[in-house]
Amino acid sequence: MDNSQFTTVYDAIGGEPTMRRLIDEFYARVEKNALLRPLFPESFDEVRERQFWFQSQLFGGPKLYSENRGQPMLRARHLPFPITKAHARAWLGCMKEAMAAAGISGPAAEAMMSRLTSTAFHMVNQEDEEPEVDR
Ligand code: HEM
Repeated sequence: MDNSQFTTVYDAIGGEPTMRRLIDEFYARVEKNALLRPLFPESFDEVRERQFWFQSQLFGGPKLYSENRGQPMLRARHLPFPITKAHARAWLGCMKEAMAAAGISGPAAEAMMSRLTSTAFHMVNQEDEEPEVDR
């Protein structure tokens, strides 16, 4: 019998080592991104660990974020930072590249990107400086 439909995304991508790799690859890109870099402190060490906890939990792995940080309240935690749609797109662009670099593809990658896309746009708390033009 094929039980694959019961596997979590976390297990499907290879669990902790792949999640670590993903988050490392992600912040390596955020660090080089001119739009995102200024929002973050000099060291990414804390946020990298918290992101690892968060995404492990979000995708069905151990509940590390709740254990270490309590309620996620992610939108509230992002309110001190001015986040526009352009930031959300840049964040998602870094994540997409990080997934490829971590070898995450297929349905697991699609499920992750879809979930992260809605979360990223949920964090938007400022208008873009330039109004968006329809293309
Ligand atoms: C939309 C674009 C986003 C931007 C510009 C952004 C930026 C930031 C910044 C500046 C911090 C604080 C860093 C620090 O204080 O060291 C942070 C923390 C965090 N972000 Fe984001 N973020 C975005 C989207 C997301 C998304 C989509 C997620 C989850 C999938 C996420 C998860 C987190 C987590 C878990 C933390 C740590 C919260 C804590 O203090 O426990 N962020 N983010």
